[in-house]
Amino acid sequence: MIIGVLNQKGGVGKTTIAINLAATYAKSGLRVLLVDADPQGSALQWSAARDAEPLFPVIGMAKPSLHRDLPDIAKDYQVVIIDGAPRVNELGRAAILASDLVLIPVQPSPYDIWAAADTVSLIQEAQQFKPDLKCAFVINRKIANTAIGRDVGDALAQFEHVPVLNATLHQRVIYAESAGQGLAVIEAEPNSEAAREIAALSKALTSTNEKKAA
Ligand SMILES: Nc1ncnc2c1ncn2[C@@H]1O[C@H](COP(=O)(O)OP(=O)(O)OP(=O)(O)O)[C@@H](O)[C@H]1O
Ligand SMILES: [Mg+2]
Repeated sequence: MIIGVLNQKGGVGKTTIAINLAATYAKSGLRVLLVDADPQGSALQWSAARDAEPLFPVIGMAKPSLHRDLPDIAKDYQVVIIDGAPRVNELGRAAILASDLVLIPVQPSPYDIWAAADTVSLIQEAQQFKPDLKCAFVINRKIANTAIGRDVGDALAQFEHVPVLNATLHQRVIYAESAGQGLAVIEAEPNSEAAREIAALSKALTSTNEKKAA
């Protein structure tokens, strides 16, 4: 399973989610590869900040040929997570074409909802070549008990062909704190709400991938 965590908008949580999903799948015993497809190299920096033994390898592949180069490397892994680059369409396209399932993080903000259209249209373009390509939104940085937190799901319903996962990630300081030490939340605070919400997201993705493939 190749999961691309992608959004053409910057700062929505792609790297945070990619790293934490990779760690959660690895902790569950799967062979995981994390591909840093962003020239900023944030996932590589995370891995360099780490003193602990690696849970999974992180490789840099911020290239428009990603979809051609990755399959050969991916076959040695059960789960491959791509941390996508913002803004650059040719990198976005390559990462989408390399994926079985594209996860689009969006924050509960009108700017994120408006910007989601760019990523959705890149996915729809790719689906012409790859009709089995799946995609889903995940709401990230939700703040509990806020109207915008509740309304974001309704606002995303305008993208009829892109489901919104029930698994939602909340605004939690542990995401940034753990990253600074090159750790995932499942390592820094295994019994935290953050670790639980990432685990729920990882299960939702596995079942989305299996459901539609059947
Ligand atoms: N659920 C969350 N709770 C708190 N902080 C978060 C959460 N998700 C992401 N962040 C913080 O938001 C900032 C942006 O996150 P991140 O770098 O993962 O986004 P990105 O989409 O990868 O950005 P870019 O487009 O620049 O690659 C970081 O400081 C990160 O720690
Ligand atoms: Mg990033």
